[in-house]
Amino acid sequence: MTTTLPSAAVLGARAFAALAGLNRFSDEPGRLTRLYLSPAHRQAAEWTKGAMEVAGLTAVIDAAGSVQGRREGAMPGLPAVMIASHIDTVKDAGRFDGNLGVVSGILVAQALRDAGIVLPFALEVVAFGDEENVRFPTHLSTSSALAGTYEPAWLEARDPDGIRLSDALVAFGGDPSGIAGLARAPGSIAAYLEVHIEQGPVLEAEGEAVGIVTAINAQCRARVRVVGEAGHAGTVPMSLRKDALAASAEMVLALEAVAAAHPQAVATVGVLRPDPGAANVVPGATEFSVDFRSPSNDTLAAMESAIRDRFAGIAARRGVELSFAPYARAEAVPMDEALQAALAAGIARTGANPGARRLPSGAGHDAMTMAAICPAAMLFVRNARGISHSPLESMTEADAGIAVRVLLETVLELARRRA
Ligand code: GLV
Ligand code: MN
Ligand code: MN
Repeated sequence: MTTTLPSAAVLGARAFAALAGLNRFSDEPGRLTRLYLSPAHRQAAEWTKGAMEVAGLTAVIDAAGSVQGRREGAMPGLPAVMIASHIDTVKDAGRFDGNLGVVSGILVAQALRDAGIVLPFALEVVAFGDEENVRFPTHLSTSSALAGTYEPAWLEARDPDGIRLSDALVAFGGDPSGIAGLARAPGSIAAYLEVHIEQGPVLEAEGEAVGIVTAINAQCRARVRVVGEAGHAGTVPMSLRKDALAASAEMVLALEAVAAAHPQAVATVGVLRPDPGAANVVPGATEFSVDFRSPSNDTLAAMESAIRDRFAGIAARRGVELSFAPYARAEAVPMDEALQAALAAGIARTGANPGARRLPSGAGHDAMTMAAICPAAMLFVRNARGISHSPLESMTEADAGIAVRVLLETVLELARRRA
């Protein structure tokens, strides 16, 4: 095999240049917000398709809005090694979450093409579009389409403006009726690899540029609705109120206490909307999100029953109605041991992190859904101060370059194993 591969430094510079290109597309001026099926998502998908083509991949934007690129191996139709992540973002996002993984895949494809390396498998790079699940109450829907686990009910889901997912998909240029056909045949993906910013402080604290993910934590998301009674803020005595927002505030604190009772568990209310939302009206209703996670499936189940009990107690004491509706659940997903070993070999060949630090992921990733149909593994990259889902999210160009080089070496390691 030829050794004319770009150095980590060159790959880092290419990665940062590509990220600058991709992150020009935002739904909001002055900050990065790229929600699933938005105009900025369409622009980013077009940009990604073009970048894949420049890297020698045949690329399409698929029926669900993902960008899929493929380069055949030694003969057409071989099972693929798929490198993927996502190009949708949270609101006011960081530049690396998802985007780094997509750019890494494209740079690996480009480096292999430039070096004239023919692989004993096809190489695919995918940019998923609905990893953050910020706009619609779905769960990793675009990777679920490939995994064959897409829930048809998601097409009826509505965003906060009342737009149906299927209508948004058609406006984007996708095709709801084509989603079932995206499911990959068993055995057609030999391995799934995802590079991702750590979104936590462990690698930085331990002085490691990259680390290997052992498992992705279990998680549950629910929509909660509390209905009390609206009234005049000046006239309804405190003892006669059914203030839905005050009840919800108690629930938020109860949620925090439930998470605090379980080591390594976390729980968050990220959205809370009072209705009608006026300074002189006692809030008659609220809707809020609940997101809770744990490395253990059993702990997650125990947390859910504690949360339901605590919320029901608060609702009964305050005389408000409560509905608690989970809409996304994912069990903890272990990463494939053989692929973890391949990543460790890639790290050793790159000369980074001799220890190949292993760590679990508290964040959800498309690798969770893909692990249902193929061996899957992830490489984390050091994250300054562990800050993510924030414009302050950052990493160094040098670390990005190390990660892409490790990914390249890992693909070559998989090729050696197949040869
Ligand atoms: C995705 O970033 C998540 O919420 O874990
Ligand atoms: Mn992500
Ligand atoms: Mn994210």
